[in-house]
Amino acid sequence: MSRIPVHKTDQCYKRLRRFLFMLKRVVFVVLLTLSQHSIAETGQPGLSSEITNGKRLYEQYCLTCHGVNGVGERPIPKYIRAPGFLTAMPLNEASHAWYHSDEQLIEAVLNGLQRTQRMPAWKGILSEQDARLIVAYIKSLWSPRIIACQGPKHMSCM
Ligand code: HEC
Repeated sequence: MSRIPVHKTDQCYKRLRRFLFMLKRVVFVVLLTLSQHSIAETGQPGLSSEITNGKRLYEQYCLTCHGVNGVGERPIPKYIRAPGFLTAMPLNEASHAWYHSDEQLIEAVLNGLQRTQRMPAWKGILSEQDARLIVAYIKSLWSPRIIACQGPKHMSCM
């Protein structure tokens, strides 16, 4: 039985280590890319899986006020509206939801709005990931042009 010389096993070991080092880097880059793609970003549409899941959550928690397809609540005439009562604005492109970045929309969903108790903080009921999915769904109600103009860019797009 021929034995492998020590210096050869040493070389093999070094090669293996180099290979594992490269493999780790490749895995890291792949995971980083995947993780970036699985998060909807301002100015980019969400993935279809995010939109489907976001729609389900929207219908469960938001539809009662913000309406089917985000059309918003029907305006209530001032003379019968309680002072300070705000109706839920549309979240489709008819109102200015698209002036906000994804992060601002997520912040509004999780922490609610100062100006009205009617829009509650959903933190505790919805996770940040849930809010992201809902935002991906809301963005699916916007045209590609509006999505491209989302957030701080809206000023130069008008
Ligand atoms: C009980 C009614 C109600 C429910 C349920 C509700 N909202 Fe609202 N929402 C409001 C009201 C009222 C406002 C504020 C309107 C205003 O400021 O003129 C608002 C405002 C918002 C805004 C701010 C939009 C902007 O352009 O500033 C976002 C985003 C929003 N809601 C998302 C959601 C999401 C997502 C859900 C479900 C998780 C939800 N809302 C559930 C009533 C509701």
